[in-house]
Amino acid sequence: MKNYDNVVIFDHPLIKHKIAILRDEKTSMKEFRELVEEITTLMTYESLKEGIPTTEIQVQTPLEKCTQTVVKDNSVVIVPILRAGLGMVNGVHVLFPSARVGHIGMYRDEETLEPQSYYCKLPVGIEDTLVLLVDPMLATGGSACDAIQLLKSKGCKHIKFMAIIGAPEGVSKVAEAHPDVDIYVSTLDRCLNENGYILPGLGDAGDRLFGTK
Ligand code: PRP
Ligand code: URA
Repeated sequence: MKNYDNVVIFDHPLIKHKIAILRDEKTSMKEFRELVEEITTLMTYESLKEGIPTTEIQVQTPLEKCTQTVVKDNSVVIVPILRAGLGMVNGVHVLFPSARVGHIGMYRDEETLEPQSYYCKLPVGIEDTLVLLVDPMLATGGSACDAIQLLKSKGCKHIKFMAIIGAPEGVSKVAEAHPDVDIYVSTLDRCLNENGYILPGLGDAGDRLFGTK
């Protein structure tokens, strides 16, 4: 895959270790859910290194008064792409408990692999916040591209997208369609199979998170 200025692939040994367990078909639903949360927390720490709106406040320590930088109230909104993105919300909330949450519902048509949008509920004022769009799987890139387009149509100007596993096809598609969006992927897999599943991947993230199969 080509290098893109707006794409960061983490390849961190601790994240890789957790992803190895996540992939294992023998990993239970409970452990799968916990690992998705843990990986998301690690990703959030890095992804939000830059771009969070901050402000300065005065703090009186026991010794003197000083100026300190804090995160602005109501400045970050988490937007999971339903369903599987829901599994990542708590992982962001661990670091950012006050972040509000919007929801975008999308599923892939099994025949065409085209994303079908079925729900959208976003917090008031989202256009002035940093939006952290989350979905564990970036396969063809169709769902992420459409979700980003939807956010932009609602006025969002500052969007970051986090996926745990990305296929080269999907990463390229989103990076090229939305060069103004920062894309963070924990690990880049080999390719997609004929059904649009990521290889080696982890199977269907929604089914594994929610036990639907
Ligand atoms: C999965 C996944 C992404 C999408 C990725 O959702 O969570 O949203 O597929 O595929 P793409 O990059 O090719 O668009 P799915 O459609 O299976 O819905 P679900 O989360 O409700 O199971
Ligand atoms: N969605 C998933 O959940 N897994 C894939 O491999 C591709 C899309």
